[in-house]
Amino acid sequence: MVRFLPCLRRPFTTATKAHLGGSYIRDDYTNITTRILEHVGLNLHLQKNHPLNLVHQRIINYFHETFTLSSKPVFSIFNELKPIVSVNQNFDSLLIPKDHVSRSKSDCYYLNREYLLRAHMTAHQAELLAGGFKNFLMIGDVYRRDEIDRTHYPVFHQVDAVRLKSRDELFPNACGHIFDKSVSTDYDGIQAKQECHSVEAVKLMEEELKNTLLGLVKSLFGDVKYRWVETTFPFTQPSWELEVFYNNDWLELLGCGIMKHHILTNAGVHDNIGWAFGIGLERVAMCLYKIPDIRLFWSKDSGFLSQFNLCDINQSVTYKEISQFPQCINDISFWLPDNVEFSSNDFYDLVRDNGGNIVEQVELIDNFVHPKTKKISHCYRITYRHMEKTLTQEEVNRVHQRIGDAAREKLLVEIR
Ligand code: PHE
Repeated sequence: MVRFLPCLRRPFTTATKAHLGGSYIRDDYTNITTRILEHVGLNLHLQKNHPLNLVHQRIINYFHETFTLSSKPVFSIFNELKPIVSVNQNFDSLLIPKDHVSRSKSDCYYLNREYLLRAHMTAHQAELLAGGFKNFLMIGDVYRRDEIDRTHYPVFHQVDAVRLKSRDELFPNACGHIFDKSVSTDYDGIQAKQECHSVEAVKLMEEELKNTLLGLVKSLFGDVKYRWVETTFPFTQPSWELEVFYNNDWLELLGCGIMKHHILTNAGVHDNIGWAFGIGLERVAMCLYKIPDIRLFWSKDSGFLSQFNLCDINQSVTYKEISQFPQCINDISFWLPDNVEFSSNDFYDLVRDNGGNIVEQVELIDNFVHPKTKKISHCYRITYRHMEKTLTQEEVNRVHQRIGDAAREKLLVEIR
């Protein structure tokens, strides 16, 4: 579908090219929007005194303090990797099946069939392994099409890590093996391990992985209640999620697991076993500093940024609301087009493009099929709120009208 960019095979404009560091030919997969492109290169995690920079630095420090060899840090840091990656990097190299939902156009921002804005930092794992790195952190901005509310934004930041171990490192007394020829996947009764690995090697790796992550959580949040939840990722097995009990709620903090051995062998690493994890920075910062809305991270307001100008990055800070301006709520209802694919994420992007950062939340509040015509109707509630001033109803009406016009024109809906 070429709803956003009707003109096929038109290269991006020069301005866009500079932004992207190359030229990409549009095709039927192109769904990236100018608004999203404007976030590329901002690197909030590298901006001094930014809350994401503080969290990023605290995570790096924790790894440097926890893992040293002859007083040198064990982990290499990659925090300036460019966010445009190939489909191979983001998915194939991580053994993500061809029909996996995470590849869909309604979940990712594609430049074209071959390139997209990375949807996770794990996209760089295989290339760094192939480059000979054994212990590394990958930190940067990731891009996902998603719903709109106070905790979701299409651009966010992640820290991913990889740690490999050889037989000598894992069994210093030479009394164990990483690999096992029995091809059994029996592990702990619930989760299966990979056929090639020995139970003893996986146990040791699991223990180090979990201890490392609990140590990290402790260094950030102090003593909190936590639980491990079994899960699956295409690139790790076994896999877990770590949830912490924070502000009276279980919060999913990170995903992790034992790296799929095929990823290592494809990268030319044959005699090691590895663990990996990925953690979202906004989530950590929102909890740590009690930041109520994810859009605040993009604020250039000194009232926001100055609160994170700390002498000691480990200092505890609680964000003080700059001020609370009123919300303005407007609904929009339309009939979906016949015979044309429609996904709510297309509408969310359109709202972002036309409403910018005054959109706080978009919710699908009604969805019904007309009994006679079989036409589908959606009603969305759009909550507008400016972070720095009170919006007038007229201002909001103009934006709301623009969203309706754009939806009619680009998504071919019929406004009710
Ligand atoms: N890439 C996963 C995500 O974005 C996180 C992850 C990284 C899980 C590495 C396991 C290992 O959710």
